[in-house]
Amino acid sequence: MSVTFTPCRPGFGAECTGVDISQPLTAEQAAAVDAGMDRFGVLIFRHPVPLTTEQQVTFTLNFGEQEPPYTQIQAAGGVRIADPGISDISNLGPDGSILSGDDRKRMSGLGNQLWHSDSSYKAIPARYSLLNAHVLPPDGGDTQFADMRAAYDALHAKMKARIEDLVCEHSRIFSKGTLGIPFTESELRAFAPVRQRLVRTHPKTGRKSLFLSSHAGRILGWPAPEAQILIRELTEHATQREFVISHTWKVGDLVMWDNRTTMHRARPYDDTVFPRDLRRTTVTDGVMTVAQMAA
Ligand code: OGA
Ligand code: MN
Repeated sequence: MSVTFTPCRPGFGAECTGVDISQPLTAEQAAAVDAGMDRFGVLIFRHPVPLTTEQQVTFTLNFGEQEPPYTQIQAAGGVRIADPGISDISNLGPDGSILSGDDRKRMSGLGNQLWHSDSSYKAIPARYSLLNAHVLPPDGGDTQFADMRAAYDALHAKMKARIEDLVCEHSRIFSKGTLGIPFTESELRAFAPVRQRLVRTHPKTGRKSLFLSSHAGRILGWPAPEAQILIRELTEHATQREFVISHTWKVGDLVMWDNRTTMHRARPYDDTVFPRDLRRTTVTDGVMTVAQMAA
């Protein structure tokens, strides 16, 4: 079976068939999927049942190294999934019950409803995220993706010139802080802002994209209000309907996205009533954006 892509919209997002994601891939299949990522930025794999942790990690390692473990905001009772290679994208506590409205992990998880790029608050951010659906609510809880290449292309030449060499500061203090989530002293230290280029160039395709995220809060050398205004203006531009696709999950689906060229957000659902359990593996990009040339 050959690897086939059915685009969601021209050039952005595609359903990928012809690979069994629960089995080891051949080098050719892995290369074909990676090439699909370069073209489409988001790939959807339908699978009848959720993957085991081992299957998801094996599939992930076709595309690079997993991110090292990092300080996470925990549920009151501790962690539900002990494996540090899996991010628990759920509204569940360690005993599997739905988190209460005021649980810190729940509050922090609400931050996924802001447009973002995963781990942009780390000096070395994420390349690919792979999210697999285990349990879904009866409605709501879609995930949306915005094409940051198309958004960049659509900017006026003047704006492109203005932002070409800008460097932003990213931190969870900006994203979760905006939501009013209080931090401990040690979190504040762990969440010190990191620098990210605002315009990135894809190393293989040479296409430029906007590197925005809810975690972006300042622009180096700029007064804070001007930086906020520009970041918000660009985010508004980049998340217009013409750049966005929406994924409605089925149990077993695995969606893989390129954090270099896309932003994503969760859509709301009745999260104090219904469980939603998705599990993420993340491939590191291995290099700081400020160490990369914009052009
Ligand atoms: C994530 C994320 C969105 C969602 O897993 O990084 O932002 O819809 N998920 O759960
Ligand atoms: Mn995310």
